[in-house]
Amino acid sequence: MFQKVKIAPSILSADFNNLGNALQDIKQAGADWAHVDVMDGHFVPNLTLGVPFVASASKRGVLPLDVHLMIDNPLVELPWFLAYKPHMVSVHIEALQNAAEAQKAAQLIHDAGSLASIAVNPETPIEQIYPTLDCWDMVLVMSVHPGFSGQSYIDGSDKKVAALVKHINSVRCEQRASSQTQTNKAAFLGRTPSTPLIEVDGGMNTETEALVCTAGADVIVSGSTIFKANNMTQVISDLRQIGNQSHAD
Ligand code: DX5
Ligand code: ZN
Repeated sequence: MFQKVKIAPSILSADFNNLGNALQDIKQAGADWAHVDVMDGHFVPNLTLGVPFVASASKRGVLPLDVHLMIDNPLVELPWFLAYKPHMVSVHIEALQNAAEAQKAAQLIHDAGSLASIAVNPETPIEQIYPTLDCWDMVLVMSVHPGFSGQSYIDGSDKKVAALVKHINSVRCEQRASSQTQTNKAAFLGRTPSTPLIEVDGGMNTETEALVCTAGADVIVSGSTIFKANNMTQVISDLRQIGNQSHAD
């Protein structure tokens, strides 16, 4: 069956004495991607995993890596991670000074052969990503303040997803009406612009997931809900089922 919603367990909630096994465990439990939270102690008040983990997890190749960079200097540090060709790499809009820097980050990621995602903090208006939307394969909407797992979902995050979906649909309608715009964009990007996936990260359980998937989320990141469960396979299966049922087509 075609799965509309992907499940990406965040290994920030795993037992750090056992990270290799955690990757195997989530794969066996049915995860689509492994979400890797990289924090630098500056962009967020926490230090977690970095380049050595991405290097070794990438070498093992257990699951596609969904690397979430919560770092101050993405343009400087991106190449360190990109050397290991993660599947998806998210950079934060708050860590980029302007649209030119955002475009440069997306270009670096694409040139390395990875998919590019832009992450948006809860207090950042979603409109900030609109000028560079065509650069990104995914938009990561934070539904908690970044830095720690185990926080509660921030009410209204689903409204942000809904606003983004509405904007994407209106832009696509306009572009379809003007094939010249499509051609110009494709020439600029060096690829045909596509509709970005929407990922939601933080405080996800079957209830909060239903809200964001109804609004149009395609990828659900979940740390504590999955790793605290007695039966990880069951939780991932429940998240997938509720997500698919709720997803706005
Ligand atoms: C927070 C991280 C999240 C976090 C999710 O900064 O980006 O990925 O680990 O954990 P839960 O699902 O427990 O909120
Ligand atoms: Zn994350």
